Amino acid sequence: MSKKIGIIGSGAMGAGIAQVFATAGHEVLVYDANADALVRAEKNLAITMEKLVTKNKYTADKAEAIQQAIHYVKELKAFASADLVIEAIIEDLSVKQQVFKNLEEVVSSSCVLASNTSSLSIASIAAACEKPERVIGIHFFNPAPVMALVEIIPAVQTDPALAEQIKALIADAAKLPVITKDTPGFIVNRVARPFYGEAIRILEEGVADCETIDFAMTSIGGFRMGPFELMDFIGHDVNYRVTESVFEAFFYDPKFKPSFTQKRLFEAGYYGRKSGKGFYNYSEGAHRNEPQHDPVLLEKIFKRILLMLINEAADALFLNIANRDDLDTAMTKGVNYPKGLLQWADEYGLEKIQQDMDQLYAYYHEDRYRLSPIIRNMISSNQKFYA
Ligand SMILES: NC(=O)c1ccc[n+]([C@@H]2O[C@H](COP(=O)([O-])OP(=O)(O)OC[C@H]3O[C@@H](n4cnc5c(N)ncnc54)[C@H](O)[C@@H]3O)[C@@H](O)[C@H]2O)c1
Repeated sequence: MSKKIGIIGSGAMGAGIAQVFATAGHEVLVYDANADALVRAEKNLAITMEKLVTKNKYTADKAEAIQQAIHYVKELKAFASADLVIEAIIEDLSVKQQVFKNLEEVVSSSCVLASNTSSLSIASIAAACEKPERVIGIHFFNPAPVMALVEIIPAVQTDPALAEQIKALIADAAKLPVITKDTPGFIVNRVARPFYGEAIRILEEGVADCETIDFAMTSIGGFRMGPFELMDFIGHDVNYRVTESVFEAFFYDPKFKPSFTQKRLFEAGYYGRKSGKGFYNYSEGAHRNEPQHDPVLLEKIFKRILLMLINEAADALFLNIANRDDLDTAMTKGVNYPKGLLQWADEYGLEKIQQDMDQLYAYYHEDRYRLSPIIRNMISSNQKFYA
């Protein structure tokens, strides 16, 4: 059934989310504190639609209908009859809390309020509201019209029935919704940490250079990009900050410890592609090392990073952050991993995971290499993730 959906913030995410719901046949209202951002969003959508029509992906009528379904509004008051409002403004808790308070003054009592936050807890945003039970996290990935995954995050205050209702709405908008607990990084930004962290650790130890580590992950693992290429692509300003905020939010669990190597790149302004330099140099004719082709070395690198990713996904299951299927969907659809990590765990073999993690732990004596208890439990009861 068609709904009226309000979006606050028409930046990268808000504009994309508006397009998703308009495409699904809903009426969308978009508000931004900056009038220029609204004008930009409207223009960008027109350009996107024109491209889709030129490529024969959409008919001109469909493109027109999508644009007509979005109304750019100058006042929050326009949200009075909205069924759902999604906030996608700057990542600042006090600003978000104020916006939610303002929203509650204009929306109806049945309107659901959602945040697209990547790193704040939904509980802390809901705490600012008179009716915190109507607040939920709906976390889209960038670019929202392209990325299928949407993480749905009920807070401790959220009405228990709400997550399933939002899940149905998101699925109806041709997206893949997964439900996750309100813990730092939700699923994707938590489980993906070792892809970066363990790769940097291997580099720091001098086991191999960036080119070789990236090559191991793409050639053996089938990942679309190696960790260093990907960090340079995301930008160290973004990727380092996420790593730091996840580490703090986990009460400094050593598993999530950031690295000095990345911190120095960040401090130097070597953000990656966008600044012309990161782990790699992007200036014209810049030298790149030829990756080493030693199969034993490549296998060792790939296995170590994969092992740490699997262990993190398994631990997220152990702690009931999400169910098995949602964990695997999140990593294949949110960050395009070639396989779900729990499916990969079965292929790797649970005994072998235990043996390899215990070996790392015995060698390093570092807490980051602790095996998730779920692996031992499953081995002792002769289970696999997928029966
Ligand atoms: N960019 C990403 O990759 C990504 C992915 C997932 C989630 N997120 C989250 O989505 C949210 C928005 O991110 P973004 O990348 O779209 O940011 P952005 O900077 O592109 O856009 C934010 C917009 O919010 C507007 N704004 C700021 N304060 C406002 C206020 N008080 N009231 C109304 N409008 C206000 C700004 O004018 C701007 O247009 C953040 O919470 C972010 O963590 C971002």
